[in-house]
Amino acid sequence: MADAVTRAKWDRMAPRFDSMASKGAERRWAPAKRELFARMDGRILFLALGTGLDIPHFPAGRTITAIDISPRMVELAAPRIAAYDGTIDAQVMDVHDLPHPPGSFDQVFTSCTFCSVPDPVAGLKALHRVLRPGGELFMFEHTGSRFTPFRQMMDMMTALTRRIGPEMNRPTVDNVRAAGFRVRAVENVFLDVVKTIHAIRPT
Ligand SMILES: C[S@@+](CC[C@H](N)C(=O)[O-])C[C@H]1O[C@@H](n2cnc3c(N)ncnc32)[C@H](O)[C@@H]1O
Repeated sequence: MADAVTRAKWDRMAPRFDSMASKGAERRWAPAKRELFARMDGRILFLALGTGLDIPHFPAGRTITAIDISPRMVELAAPRIAAYDGTIDAQVMDVHDLPHPPGSFDQVFTSCTFCSVPDPVAGLKALHRVLRPGGELFMFEHTGSRFTPFRQMMDMMTALTRRIGPEMNRPTVDNVRAAGFRVRAVENVFLDVVKTIHAIRPT
């Protein structure tokens, strides 16, 4: 059964999400997201559709299964789904409850997700299961920092931010490895906090 607390938290956030995320942050991260999503190919799962702010960065002509735990988010994504020059099958779904058989996808993409999935290693293991052996995971994430002042600041911020949405201090690259992936590349987009991660489900 879907995690009702996480669902309710993001349903509450949904009506405010665009005004919070779509201005500075989204403009700033757009080039890195576009570069990452340009690699979309084959059977694609997109985790954490949100209000669809990522959709304008998707290459045209793809067929994408997109999921999000929040019905309100998926509802608000409808105009961006309709404007996409390709096919997006949007579904309300918790990453922990993926009904797809093992190996259903060639690629999984996620953006700003594993800051908020309550048990990130379990969520990543669920993605590992639905990827074919040799399949690829591409992530755009903000994480904790190796640098002490930033790390301490993020620990303090997380005490507040986790109540409304994300955690700011997650060791996401370590979590990807702990879920059984082989990390191919990590690229810092802003300091060592915002980054792209490319990982493979080993054959
Ligand atoms: C910070 S938002 C990012 C949305 C979008 N990717 C973007 O960057 O605009 C995080 C999203 O993750 C979704 N989410 C959180 N936990 C989830 C879970 N367990 N399964 C599926 N989606 C989840 C939330 O509903 C929310 O829409």
